Amino acid sequence: MKKLAAGNWKMNGTQSSLAEVTALLAAHPAPTCEMLLCPPATLLTAMAGLAKGSALQIGGQDCHPKGSGAHTGDISAAMLADAGAAYVILGHSERRSDHGETDALVRAKAEAALAAGLVAVVCIGETEGQRDAGQTLDVIGTQVDGSIPLTGTAATLVLAYEPVWAIGTGRTPTLAEIAEVHAFLRARLRALIGAEADGVRILYGGSVKPSNAVEIFAVPHVDGALVGGASLKAADFGAIVAALAAA
Ligand code: 13P
Repeated sequence: MKKLAAGNWKMNGTQSSLAEVTALLAAHPAPTCEMLLCPPATLLTAMAGLAKGSALQIGGQDCHPKGSGAHTGDISAAMLADAGAAYVILGHSERRSDHGETDALVRAKAEAALAAGLVAVVCIGETEGQRDAGQTLDVIGTQVDGSIPLTGTAATLVLAYEPVWAIGTGRTPTLAEIAEVHAFLRARLRALIGAEADGVRILYGGSVKPSNAVEIFAVPHVDGALVGGASLKAADFGAIVAALAAA
């Protein structure tokens, strides 16, 4: 399996930020892991142009379950593909909390993504209260069961474990906690999609940075990272890419 270093720019970045992409590609022209950046929709086409023919893949941060129509402000999976995206992040906790996205909606979006030829990066994760209450595995098990497209394969599905309380906080679970969740997720995926599960990349996300990437990437069943803040700067994201390539 080729590991995946994915960056989620969230609602950050304007044309001038594309200089970071140029710098990233200059420093890491051919990493042995896969490299993905998911910019805001306004930068997709320009970033895809910069990445064309390079080792960098481009992705969207959300899509609508329908292919087209009267849905003001939304973007379809086919439109993302047309803009040069190969991936799309779905069900990020910020979409789930800001926009009330349910597991069923995330699954419908993921099915639309697959139909459009995109790889779906489905996100799940518990809140701090749920972890404190000992509900982590129950919560993420339910999210996986309800959110992933059941036709997903190793080539079309990526799962991202992002504990809500670790996003943007500088806090991370212990390595043992990450190991427990990722092993659980592998088994849960096997129950849902069979042997394909062994090739599905399971990413860890939440305050990944150059200083903790090496130890996180050594955890079994961690097949890469979904990086927020540290993906905005070429030097930081490049260091994470290098750590994953060496893992
Ligand atoms: P941070 O890396 O900024 O904690 O964000 C993680 C995340 O939400 C990526 O999708």
